[in-house]
Amino acid sequence: MGKLDGKVAIVTGGAQGMGAADCAILAAEGARVVVCDVLDEQGAVVAKQVGGEYRHLDVADEDNWAAVVAEVVKELGPVDILINNAGVVGFTPVAATALAEWNRVISVNLTGVFLGIRAVAASMKAGGGGVIVNISSTAGLTGYPNLAAYVASKWGVRGLTKSAALELGRDNIRVVSVHPGGIRTPMTAGLELGEMFASQPIPRIGEADEVAKLVLYLVADATYSTGTEFVIDGGATVGQALTVAVDPE
Ligand SMILES: NC(=O)c1ccc[n+]([C@@H]2O[C@H](COP(=O)([O-])OP(=O)(O)OC[C@H]3O[C@@H](n4cnc5c(N)ncnc54)[C@H](O)[C@@H]3O)[C@@H](O)[C@H]2O)c1
Repeated sequence: MGKLDGKVAIVTGGAQGMGAADCAILAAEGARVVVCDVLDEQGAVVAKQVGGEYRHLDVADEDNWAAVVAEVVKELGPVDILINNAGVVGFTPVAATALAEWNRVISVNLTGVFLGIRAVAASMKAGGGGVIVNISSTAGLTGYPNLAAYVASKWGVRGLTKSAALELGRDNIRVVSVHPGGIRTPMTAGLELGEMFASQPIPRIGEADEVAKLVLYLVADATYSTGTEFVIDGGATVGQALTVAVDPE
């Protein structure tokens, strides 16, 4: 028997990276997983691998959200779990960021999470409750240069999570945010991140399945947690590893 037998789970950005790892772990615990993405071929492959279904869903498109959730509810029943994982990144100095680039990042990473919460809330309430996991970042806890739109979007997700948790708690809907540090996925594939990891207490990149295990815990077992942040970053945001000389006397 799985921890999530029969539960209906929507995972956005499920075609690769952390989203695909989330799909696999939720399905392994018995959830009926709906893999959503804009990469249709890759998404369909993941859906087949996990015994789930694929739906094209651009998270920035409110009509697309309404249509997908209506179909899922009709075919599988009320949505129990939503993993708002889809995200994009772009590297530009704030003073050189075009409005179109700002809007691209905010529309997927922040507006997409808002639209997802809004799209499933009524269904979750009707089904007796649910869990929404919003994938933010350490960029939702601190700043990074050349990532202003991304950082703003991820801080936005953190705040949105708290407001939603306050409103939806009485409907038995928990809403939490996850804050990964550097994780090995297609998003980070081309980046030179070695130095960044060398200064962490756990001096290595994280793996997508490590984040997926946290997501499973939040969905299945974190029954007294809502509105709060869960950091999974190898200690990257704990502080600076200053070496202070200590007199042994
Ligand atoms: N990889 C990291 O180091 C890291 C760290 C912290 C947070 N994150 C966040 O974790 C999440 C997953 O990232 P990842 O590293 O697996 O990235 P990834 O690029 O490997 O996967 C992201 C997925 O989101 C999909 N996507 C993009 N725009 C979409 C849209 N409009 N609608 C639907 N799907 C869309 C992509 O097609 C892709 O399948 C993102 O929100 C990202 O910002 C990543």
